[in-house]
Amino acid sequence: MNALIKKGSSFKSSIVLPLDKSIAQRAAILNLETNDGIVGGDVISTRLASKNAIANGEENLYLGNSGTGIRLLTGYLSGLGRKFNLSGDMSLSKRPMDRIADPLNELGAKVSLNNGKPPIKILPSNLIKEFSYRLPIPSAQLKSSLLLAALNGKTKIEIIEPELSRDHTEKMLKYLECDIKIEYKDSLRRIYLNGEVPIKEKRVFIPGDFSAASFFIALTLLSENSRLLIPEVGINPSRIAFFDVLKEMNADISVENIKEKNNEEYADILVNSSKLRGRAIAKEIVPNLIDEIPILSMLAVFAEGSTFFEGLSELKVKESDRLKAIRSLLTEINAKFETNLDNLTIKGFGNNYTFSNAKFNSFNDHRIAMCGAILSSRSIDDIQINNVDSIETSFPNFFENLSSLGFTIDLS
Ligand code: S3P
Repeated sequence: MNALIKKGSSFKSSIVLPLDKSIAQRAAILNLETNDGIVGGDVISTRLASKNAIANGEENLYLGNSGTGIRLLTGYLSGLGRKFNLSGDMSLSKRPMDRIADPLNELGAKVSLNNGKPPIKILPSNLIKEFSYRLPIPSAQLKSSLLLAALNGKTKIEIIEPELSRDHTEKMLKYLECDIKIEYKDSLRRIYLNGEVPIKEKRVFIPGDFSAASFFIALTLLSENSRLLIPEVGINPSRIAFFDVLKEMNADISVENIKEKNNEEYADILVNSSKLRGRAIAKEIVPNLIDEIPILSMLAVFAEGSTFFEGLSELKVKESDRLKAIRSLLTEINAKFETNLDNLTIKGFGNNYTFSNAKFNSFNDHRIAMCGAILSSRSIDDIQINNVDSIETSFPNFFENLSSLGFTIDLS
């Protein structure tokens, strides 16, 4: 399905977000009851695969497009001592899984891959009783996969994390009364989990997805005389570097009504049209805005002055090669940018910049397709995006929200 999008005029409105994908997938794997709400294909496939594995005793599990689903479930299942086979769609079948298979095998699991990629085969085995691992990449999926394996394998695990990645798993396990401790020693974060203490099943409240919100935050910043209220958005500190960066870029954005449930903070986000200033994004915070880098790099084009990103290598192994996809989006709007290894510099053209005649390639990646749709707010004519079906994996009501703000969307 392709999209033709025409921008609307200014808006003062609010939108409805899907539930936080990361928290919902963790709750699905641990089979916990949650609040109802909109969820995308990734959460649905993770729920189904987890139910098929645990309740229905099935061996063959399909995770669709979801990297989080396949990586976390592989960890969780490899501690169970049963046989499984996990596969996914074309994009997922190209993503590296050795990052989880290698440490899981060191932990005593029997996980094998197809040239480092899915399908993933798990054979029955017993996990070792004590394990310490230093994360070679700042990945919440890798960290969570190991924690969930240790939980089912009744292993005492120590995970050493040089850079903080999203900590939803740690927060959830603490809420479920597992024996988990976090310490900071020698400027490293250390997580200790004693897998002998099982979870206490409790209901989990899932707030709105901050990463989904980021697209409408960007849209409002770029639109003239506009204001948006986004209610009940998750604001876990390890997830919201995009918010902090925007504030430093002069964005008129704030949070109100901060609340907390099951160790996760959430709040209403209020955002107004703004004139942005470029800035440098240090590589230390990249894990805390990893999914927001595509949309942030689009915003940089409409800022005053340059924006500089470093340490972007992980973007190459997301749902698409997002560094390549960002270059393609930037080229299509005639932006000025330079890439050098894992760094990216974007020259800001300022708040009045517009473009025309854009035909965006989504690379079948939901976040890239949504970047294209948001850019329509600065196009002087309709924009086109090919293959927007992937948006459904994380934000099934994305176009409904966009249309409620006055945009015209033609899907064919
Ligand atoms: C996620 C972690 C991130 C992120 C992904 C969701 C999670 O991946 O990009 O969308 O829920 O743990 P990495 O952990 O591989 O960086």
